[in-house]
Amino acid sequence: MTILQEIVFVVVNMDRDIAIKVVGLTKYYGKFLAVDHINLEIYDREIFGFLGPNGAGKSTTLLMLTTVLKPSEGTAYVYGYDIRKYPDKVRSLIGIAFQDPKLFWIHTPYEILIWHAKVCGYRGSKAREVVRDVLSMLNMWEARNKRAMELSGGMRKRVEIAKVFIQKPRVAIFDEPTAQIDVTGKHMIWDMIRGLRDEGSTIILATNELYEADILSDRIGIIYKGKIVAVGTPKELKDTIPGGDILEIQVEGGLSNGLLSRLEGYREVSKVELVDSTVKLYLNRVEELLPQILEDLIRNGVKVKSVNMREPTLDDVFMHYTGARLKEED
Ligand SMILES: Nc1ncnc2c1ncn2[C@@H]1O[C@H](COP(=O)(O)OP(=O)(O)OP(=O)(O)O)[C@@H](O)[C@H]1O
Ligand SMILES: [Mg+2]
Repeated sequence: MTILQEIVFVVVNMDRDIAIKVVGLTKYYGKFLAVDHINLEIYDREIFGFLGPNGAGKSTTLLMLTTVLKPSEGTAYVYGYDIRKYPDKVRSLIGIAFQDPKLFWIHTPYEILIWHAKVCGYRGSKAREVVRDVLSMLNMWEARNKRAMELSGGMRKRVEIAKVFIQKPRVAIFDEPTAQIDVTGKHMIWDMIRGLRDEGSTIILATNELYEADILSDRIGIIYKGKIVAVGTPKELKDTIPGGDILEIQVEGGLSNGLLSRLEGYREVSKVELVDSTVKLYLNRVEELLPQILEDLIRNGVKVKSVNMREPTLDDVFMHYTGARLKEED
């Protein structure tokens, strides 16, 4: 096949919604297996959260997708282009904010970003305009003329992130974008990432922060020791834990055995416990089932005093799939 035929073949045979298809992607550092034959589909115009602890293989995967590192085995297709065969094309579609920004020490954010804007095709006043807009959005306009060596860690990270917002690439990759960034800055960057998705970019966000992954991602892939262990929307992932939701209902005077077995009979309920006057149910889809359960109890003459419910967290999901915790116990 000619190159053109090959491109047409790949594009025609791909689902239209798929932005990136990862096939058996693998990386060995010497004998150490850092990324272990991962398969993944990332959809067009979604925010895909890549969640995993330190050393899981997130950055290594992203560096292969951006053609910085060569895969040991397997490959990925970025909008149909094989990263091994068409690295230049792939680089033109992707922009990445690296985890550890490497800035030239003597340059200023303004100089670095003007240069970057020009590489991205902006000319003259247009380059100055886009740099001013993005630096202002990131609260970096005042610090624009400091030298890189004078920037704080969070400021350096903002300059790195600014590059992606100037480029507005088809695939925007952020490797732990808000590490070192203060709370107000985190919210601002999350809003900007959502904005970039809404303008049409596909986003990959590597993070080890549960909250960031939960609120920002349309779908999440959990990576652990180089393997993808689960993929889904935050809600789907939480719903996969059997009995992951907990519903506590405090009632007046306890419950009869008949009523307890009635609650146990619900298909979504995995376990029921009664401690003093509080009945504790472990179930799935609590939000859908709650009205029905309450109605059932009330119809059977039970006086409900209080109701408390808790959905599983992504940490519970992580625990379910890996047996480990991402977050320390409180
Ligand atoms: N250049 C390298 N040479 C040897 N081993 C490496 C190299 N880079 C990464 N590794 C190893 O590969 C594994 C995956 O590292 P990677 O940086 O991809 O993890 P990560 O998920 O991005 O972690 P973090 O959350 O800490 O950024 C780790 O065990 C790491 O020690
Ligand atoms: Mg990393």
